[in-house]
Amino acid sequence: MFHGNSDSQKMKNVDSKSHVRGESVYLDDVPLLEGTLFACVYDSPIAHGKLKSVDISEAEKSKGVVKIITAKDLIGENQIGGILPDEPLLADGEVHFCGMPIALVLAETEAQAHAAAKLITAEIEPLEIITDEREAQAKGKLIAPPKHFKLGDSDKAFATCEHVFEGRADVNGQEHLYIETQGAYTIPSEQGGMKIYSSTQGPTAVQRAVSRVTGIPMNLLEVDVTRLGGGFGGKEDQANAWAALCAVGTQLTKKPVKYALHRMEDMRMTGKRHPYSADYKIGLDKDFRIIAYSATFYQNAGAACDLSLPVLERTLFHCTNSYFIPNVSATAYSCKTNLPPNTAFRGFGGPQGMFVIESAIAHAAEKLNVSASEIQRKNLIENGDEFPYGQIAESEAITSWKQADEKYDFAKLKAEADEFNANNKFIKKGVALMPICFGISFTKTPMNQARSLVHVYTDGSVAISTGAVEMGQGVNTKIAQVAAKVFSQPIGRVKVHTTNTLRIANTSPTAASAAADLNGRATQIACETILERLKTVAEEMLKDGAYRIESSEISEMRHTQKDGVTFENGFVFFNGEPTSLDWLLVVNEAYNQRVSLSEHAHYATQGINFDWSIAKGHPFAYHVYGTAIVGVTVDCQRGIYEVDYVKCCHDFGSSMNAAVDNGQIEGGIVQGIGWMTMEEIFYDKNGRLRSNALSTYKIPDIYSVPKEIEILPLQTERENLAIFNSKAVGEPPLMYGIATYFAIRKAVKAFNQENLPKFDAPFTPEKVLINLYGKIGM
Ligand code: MTE
Ligand code: MOS
Repeated sequence: MFHGNSDSQKMKNVDSKSHVRGESVYLDDVPLLEGTLFACVYDSPIAHGKLKSVDISEAEKSKGVVKIITAKDLIGENQIGGILPDEPLLADGEVHFCGMPIALVLAETEAQAHAAAKLITAEIEPLEIITDEREAQAKGKLIAPPKHFKLGDSDKAFATCEHVFEGRADVNGQEHLYIETQGAYTIPSEQGGMKIYSSTQGPTAVQRAVSRVTGIPMNLLEVDVTRLGGGFGGKEDQANAWAALCAVGTQLTKKPVKYALHRMEDMRMTGKRHPYSADYKIGLDKDFRIIAYSATFYQNAGAACDLSLPVLERTLFHCTNSYFIPNVSATAYSCKTNLPPNTAFRGFGGPQGMFVIESAIAHAAEKLNVSASEIQRKNLIENGDEFPYGQIAESEAITSWKQADEKYDFAKLKAEADEFNANNKFIKKGVALMPICFGISFTKTPMNQARSLVHVYTDGSVAISTGAVEMGQGVNTKIAQVAAKVFSQPIGRVKVHTTNTLRIANTSPTAASAAADLNGRATQIACETILERLKTVAEEMLKDGAYRIESSEISEMRHTQKDGVTFENGFVFFNGEPTSLDWLLVVNEAYNQRVSLSEHAHYATQGINFDWSIAKGHPFAYHVYGTAIVGVTVDCQRGIYEVDYVKCCHDFGSSMNAAVDNGQIEGGIVQGIGWMTMEEIFYDKNGRLRSNALSTYKIPDIYSVPKEIEILPLQTERENLAIFNSKAVGEPPLMYGIATYFAIRKAVKAFNQENLPKFDAPFTPEKVLINLYGKIGM
């Protein structure tokens, strides 16, 4: 439990001041050394083909060009695939997607590099282009064999069901649109080593990729990350390529090399959230209990594995969302297409799985003429129920639903919408509910480890390094809070420093919402270890009554522990009594006695496991639950809509920083709404990205955020494995946004009862308009 005072719980992000002053340091703010070269990629104009030849002769003559690098120039391995070795850094022999890097231009200025890249040409013999995941699966183009989850016996169970519905649901991808584009800056160091500044969620992943393509051992490669202007999963794996390209440039020229992608380069060359197509079958008994569910997922992986397989697995983990279904059979195909490799994106495949079951429930509800929320409510997972992957639920699903209902009164909100619809012909309202359940931990168990390095200096200040990367989510604030609390020091005395592979090795990427849990816990262990040493030193100092004081204003201060030495508000207490010792005196005495004021601590989540051979285990440290109700208004003449409100009851456990956590919820919800409504990635049949700029790809702006977002913290006494019981919050709230899709659908149905729109997200205004006046049918 976090017992910090209420000020620290509402404490602002430690970066807020430097952010608003424009003083926060990003990759582009790293001062450049003299002689720095600028990189630009020549990328494939064709989605699939045999790369016959590359002509760099014109480009080489171009002004300022120092070197042009192609696959044959690499000293190490031409491979950056982290999970499967299927992703060359530079195309060699074949191109697999539009935007695949073919050559790297190094020039004296950025403009010269870009100009020269335009002069490169390639002879490419076209091969068949596949952009559709179902077509890829039908043609046997898979990243790996399909994965399968099974609970009970769904085939048998369907036969006993009163109602069975089958259908198809499609959900598109999503562009990360981090404000800071991808990029890296590499600087040569001694013995052929390198310092690498990278905008990455995974400093170690960058270090490994650079080591592989250059052949330089990892101990000569220092990766340093101050913070990211957003990652959202897009820099978990996909930062590697740009760092590797810069590193190759530095290796071959012995010069610093910088590459920060232009927005359109970033959109064209990087992967996105995976689009999915799915077939579902849902079976209910006469009381609308879901007895059986089966689903087949077709994931559009793009041209290489990247993180597609773990993303695919999380689709399966979350394919029943927060419902208990006794008979489940789910199969998932990762389909290889000629698109840029798709990758992690907030929710990591979970949201796609949830969209499909919510579609199945909406389908059943529409055919049975009941409210989807009735089916949702009846099937919420209870304590002790089993997830299809074997873990037993410690469920807050019903609690969060009930607490939300008590606060927001679902029936009243729905009645208001019904009444409005009865009185308005061309404007309709829709309301939908979305329970969520998201597992916290990397599903690859070995990744659930972290380290923290803590130094206390003789002026009493504290410096911390961890494996966590700050990307706006506030992890550094939480880590600083951990140290401030353990040391009972003001947060201003604590500085969380850059993420650096020389200070912290073998980091897991900052992902899976687990960074604060893993790195915060490691920090807690490190701080507690130092504190124990300081207590011993203080105890010695207090022997024979030295430093004891009778009374003073210090004694008025809060001191709760009665045993031995405690630090409170920077002062030392002994058996609950005040002393004249303080933090600074004890720290300096420890130094004089040659007691270490530094600690490097390791944390690994206990009790988690997963056995893929049977697809069962206990993969998650815990789950995050919540329930949201979303209301929308659709303009039935224009097809446009507004989100009136999102009201949720969210399971924070016990939030250690309400300001940061509420920010994550609001941001997640808006990003989820964007995915479900307006963000439409469009590749043409030739695999060319048409939504390739902010003029053709619409993301939520201030006018499209809900008019109201209400957040009610779930009341619960349950303990969990999170840092100070403060559950992970980074990804789960995005999934509340899924309700927006179903709320719009209800409003459309209120206008055009004949029509049952296809389940096909995003529900763009164009699609809304078509469905308002069409008869499409599922
Ligand atoms: N919030 C901001 N502001 N920027 C981001 O890039 N990434 C999200 C989420 N919230 C992100 C964010 C994603 S995808 C994840 S996995 C988590 O933050 C990672 O950070 P955490 O583990 O500290 O929650
Ligand atoms: Mo988040 S998709 O796990 O980086």
